Amino acid sequence: MNRDATREDWIASPKGPLQGTLDVPGDKSVSHRAIMLAAVADGTSRIDGFLEGDDTRATAAIFERMGVRIEAPEARTRVVHGVGLDGLQPPEGLLDCGNAGTGMRLLAGLLAGQSFDSVLAGDASLSRRPMRRVLDPLARMGAVIASQNGFPPLRIHGGQALRGIDYTSGIASAQVKSSVLLAGLQARGFTEVQEPHPTRDYTERMLRAFGWPIDFEPGHARLEGGHRLRATDVAVPADFSSAAFFLVAACVIPGSRLEMRRVGMNVRRTGLLRVLRQMGANIQVLECGEEGGEPVADLHVEYAPLHGIDVPVDAVPDMIDEFPALFVAAACARGTTTVRGAAELRVKESDRIATMAAGLRALGIEVLEAPDGAAIHGGHLRGGSIASQGDHRVAMAFAIAGQAADDEVRIGDIANVATSFPGFDALARDVGFGLRAG
Ligand code: S3P
Repeated sequence: MNRDATREDWIASPKGPLQGTLDVPGDKSVSHRAIMLAAVADGTSRIDGFLEGDDTRATAAIFERMGVRIEAPEARTRVVHGVGLDGLQPPEGLLDCGNAGTGMRLLAGLLAGQSFDSVLAGDASLSRRPMRRVLDPLARMGAVIASQNGFPPLRIHGGQALRGIDYTSGIASAQVKSSVLLAGLQARGFTEVQEPHPTRDYTERMLRAFGWPIDFEPGHARLEGGHRLRATDVAVPADFSSAAFFLVAACVIPGSRLEMRRVGMNVRRTGLLRVLRQMGANIQVLECGEEGGEPVADLHVEYAPLHGIDVPVDAVPDMIDEFPALFVAAACARGTTTVRGAAELRVKESDRIATMAAGLRALGIEVLEAPDGAAIHGGHLRGGSIASQGDHRVAMAFAIAGQAADDEVRIGDIANVATSFPGFDALARDVGFGLRAG
């Protein structure tokens, strides 16, 4: 068990400027997909930079339960002995996705066309997350999946002959798109997905890297069932969503200067960078290169006073996981920041609009909630106690708020930080955070 998971609370306290160079852990989205595709490919794949988080380990453990041999010769490396799309073994008992929406929704697609039954379950937070968004299109493909009124656990009845569909999704969700595409691998004919706004395209890019023919462009993907996946090696870039906490921290703590190395810069992930710059941030993107087919860059960030903005609605899907961090940046900015078109935040690991609004109010910031966003009035952060509602990104966001507050901030229920960012607290202390177990 990760050390974070054994502690209840953090106490974050102001300690002065942040300085240093950081290597943040591997990308969660890429790590999930790498395990999944490698497991059902023909041959052996090596994954470097794998995120040693609870979510991604849960996905790996699920494939081990279905007969896939996965070795970990060293931390952050996995060697996956793929069994082919038709080689998974029927699992006994529930498949536990932990806290991971990505794990559950993508697995629902991948397992829908298998010959055997399986049951996907999760923790209390995942059990409250809506699954109809994947169950509806999968049912149209011929999948038979029972749920609890649209919520987990998902009971998948295998042995169905799936057929490809042309699906126009009402939500900009990479998880929905990926679930349908993964079901499409075992469907007859073509599977096509159109999105209302382009979302992260890791599934499409990785399918191609594993040798599956696929056409895609922003907002649209199309593949045909019945091919095979060929094992390949995957280099996972550092997770921009993890780097985001340090970007915001350096932006709001006077005198700070941080560098982050080889961070994944997929344009569908870096909306926060554009928004922070619009707010006045001083961030430089250096040494652009490629890792595992993904653009990567070193990020240099220095403190600069921020001002509030209206966050462009079309930036929302490109920063969907960064709103907890953005809310803290907005609380420290001069003036008001408004967020609209972000109702999806209400169905993340917690209701992130409500959780962030309540936490910031407890620290003296005025926040007006809307159904699809909020108006955050920048001001003076004072100390206090906040509930993270078990949401990893909310806990880390308030660890930053604690650096900018005039007194200690107690953050409850931090165990789930290990789902996406194991060792966050130690790394944060290394660059000057005041952060301890409480
Ligand atoms: C993810 C997609 C996003 C994101 C999540 C990871 C993925 O979810 O919030 O953390 O890996 O596909 P939605 O598809 O629900 O927007």
